Amino acid sequence: MSSENESKTLAILECSQVVTLAGPARPRVGPELNELGIIAPGALFVRNGLIERVGTAAEIEPLIDQDTTVLDAGGRAVLPGFVDAHTHPVFGGSRVDEFQQRSKGATYEQIAAHGGGIQSTVNATRAMDEEFLLYTCVRYVDWFLRSGTTTIEAKSGYGLSLEDELKILRIIKQLGENTPLRFVPTFLGAHSIPFEYRSRRDQYVSLIIEEMLPEVANQKLAEFCDVFCEEKVFTTDESWRILSAARCYGFGLRMHADQLSLSGGAQLAAELGTVTADHLEHTDAAGIAALKQANVQPVLLPGSVYALGSSRYPAAREMIDAGLAVVLATDFNPGSSPTPSIPMILSLASTHMKMTPAEGITAATINAAYSLNRGHEIGSLEPGKIADVVIHDCGDYRDLAYFFGIEHPSSVYVRGNLFNRG
Ligand code: NIG
Ligand code: FE
Repeated sequence: MSSENESKTLAILECSQVVTLAGPARPRVGPELNELGIIAPGALFVRNGLIERVGTAAEIEPLIDQDTTVLDAGGRAVLPGFVDAHTHPVFGGSRVDEFQQRSKGATYEQIAAHGGGIQSTVNATRAMDEEFLLYTCVRYVDWFLRSGTTTIEAKSGYGLSLEDELKILRIIKQLGENTPLRFVPTFLGAHSIPFEYRSRRDQYVSLIIEEMLPEVANQKLAEFCDVFCEEKVFTTDESWRILSAARCYGFGLRMHADQLSLSGGAQLAAELGTVTADHLEHTDAAGIAALKQANVQPVLLPGSVYALGSSRYPAAREMIDAGLAVVLATDFNPGSSPTPSIPMILSLASTHMKMTPAEGITAATINAAYSLNRGHEIGSLEPGKIADVVIHDCGDYRDLAYFFGIEHPSSVYVRGNLFNRG
């Protein structure tokens, strides 16, 4: 993995479509999710890592001088880099043994009850020293970039002790500084009650509130705090305590809500006014109405539904019809969603959640950017924004959801720099 500074200016010509996502400076709702601001055919011009202009060839060509790097997109579609607003990318080991058990009929819950699940990844993550753990994650960074993702929200949550959570957050920081991928860090100490606290869960909640949150805030290692709110994981009461404390330390709030059961997660997210409520596979009409009332963005994660062999996808259509600013993300993690591919998520969203390809793209770019507090700088191809630009090997943006199981990008630019695939 590497990147190179191509030149100060870059022109990309001969694009079958430039999918700009230009529009109001806020997350898109209702019919706006279908409005991609396509220029066809189109071109764009980048100066010093920022988009300077997007338009027709006649508008872009006069900007070119002898120092400009000129790229012929060959009739391919050009989009903003995907923004993946929910990932768990720092973990030790893999869970391929559990995957095999599930292929023979065991369930995710059964495996977790027998000491597998999140705790097995926690054990593997704790056992790895920082340098080696970082090294293993560089591989995943490469996977994200190769599938056209240029920014990810990255959660801790496989350490579950002060030291191990800090170790993971330091790795996220390092990866952000030393690879082309942009990271937005989230503290997820409330991912699971670790084994050693199972008989005294209250003490673990206190550890999060009294020791982890202040230290993570003090070291400025995370922008958001997340909680896995679920009857058998962190109850709504515990989630309320943790997220209320996190707010006092200045964290933005996110929540894993109603993933495995209708457990009051969406209602709590609305009550707290979190930035996002994620998963929502079991959320009912009342929960959707509450999210709308509180202006919470749903982050939908069909990869985990698919990989767990479930058919209970979240009610995306009802959420869009209710006016929610829907986000799609991978939930990349070793247990329930081992995919870094937003195009795979777009395929699932169209096939199983009846979202149009255009709605999917809006949900995985501009709406995702707003959910990470980055809507002003990424998620669309508009003048002044960072030039995270992907040329996909297709002529029509809908092909990204239609052809599945392939890697679509032919070139990925981050801040105007070409990412060279390893
Ligand atoms: O988002 N829901 C909680 N966390 C992950 C699963 C993590 C794991 O199984 O390791 C999720 O699906
Ligand atoms: Fe998750």
